[in-house]
Amino acid sequence: MTQVLCVAGARPNFMKIAPVMAALAETGLDAQLLHTGQHYDAAMSDGFFADLGIPPPDHHLEVGSGSHAVQTAEVMKRFEPVLESVQPQAILVVGDVNSTIACALVAAKRGVRVIHVEAGLRSYDRGMPEEINRVLTDQISDLLFTTEKSALANLVREGIDPARVEFVGNVMIDTLHRNLERATPASRTLGAELAQYAVLTLHRPSNVDDPDTLASLLDVVGEINRSVPVAIPLHPRTRGNIEKFGLSAKLDGLRVLPPVGYLEMLGLMRDAKLVLTDSGGIQEETTALGVPCLTLRENTERPITIDEGTNTLVGPDPAAIRAAFADVMTNGGKTGRIPEFWDGRAAMRIAHTLKAWLPARKGVRVA
Ligand code: UD1
Repeated sequence: MTQVLCVAGARPNFMKIAPVMAALAETGLDAQLLHTGQHYDAAMSDGFFADLGIPPPDHHLEVGSGSHAVQTAEVMKRFEPVLESVQPQAILVVGDVNSTIACALVAAKRGVRVIHVEAGLRSYDRGMPEEINRVLTDQISDLLFTTEKSALANLVREGIDPARVEFVGNVMIDTLHRNLERATPASRTLGAELAQYAVLTLHRPSNVDDPDTLASLLDVVGEINRSVPVAIPLHPRTRGNIEKFGLSAKLDGLRVLPPVGYLEMLGLMRDAKLVLTDSGGIQEETTALGVPCLTLRENTERPITIDEGTNTLVGPDPAAIRAAFADVMTNGGKTGRIPEFWDGRAAMRIAHTLKAWLPARKGVRVA
């Protein structure tokens, strides 16, 4: 009998599900993997399965892109019959993407227990679709695993019983530890030996869906590029919008790359002078690598990367970006320490807890 049906759907899920699947197998738990197909390009999906040694999914929903409503609804419609046929004791979801809330909602309403990995992170910005996914997924989860201690206070504030919450550390950093030695050298990805370079990633709707904001960000990146070459692995949403808004000329002189694989991105970050990003995961990975990170957002749901790590919030304001960049160039930027339990063992902690938790909860939950 399948004990846990694990769900992954979009790029940032794959590096989180990889160590969890491995730890469940090592602990002798019976798990299956379901891919919703939210991300489907080889560069956004299959390449990660290959790089990270994730077993091929047992189920694939092939939902593809759409508006939030269409994508979420499509995952829900296609997930329900799979859940019905597999009849797992619990489903396990990771992160905060549309696939996370869609599958959690279907399972909770069918009385199947929900386990959420990376629970309790809050930006307190409801304009961010992921924030809505986080709050709602946590509300309907039975067991919540957190990456940093601040998450518990967020959950308690929302009325969640602390007995359901366990601080285990960061599974994404498990993946980083496992793969750091295999990372592709930056010179290979960049096609040149550069004395120093910066890496930029940009895909948040708040930064890339408004033409003026996107243009102003690309302008300041162009300025930075005049002192330090900037490499940009370009997300499909961002590429599409740059073309749609007629901003392609602003990419001139930048080292534009297609979305890169996990091992390439790891190598690019490890060897970079600095990273500029609006990603959630990259704020954490740069903290784990000790590389200065300027986050192009007004807030972060990962405060430990600011309090203990190498992250600085600069928002989309060009003056703030210029000042933080100058600080990195003159003073080397922020140094930090590795947060507690970001030690490569988070997934094993999860598996050990589940080994005891699952047998104690046989049968469908009676609400
Ligand atoms: C999603 C997640 C976000 C995560 C990001 C990483 C939600 C709400 N957002 O945002 O949290 O940080 O993934 O990438 O779930 N596209 C392709 N090929 C693909 C996938 C997408 O071309 O394989 C294009 C499509 O035009 C699509 C657009 O990218 O409409 C956006 O994809 P979508 O999954 O809706 O959201 P992301 O911006 O990727």
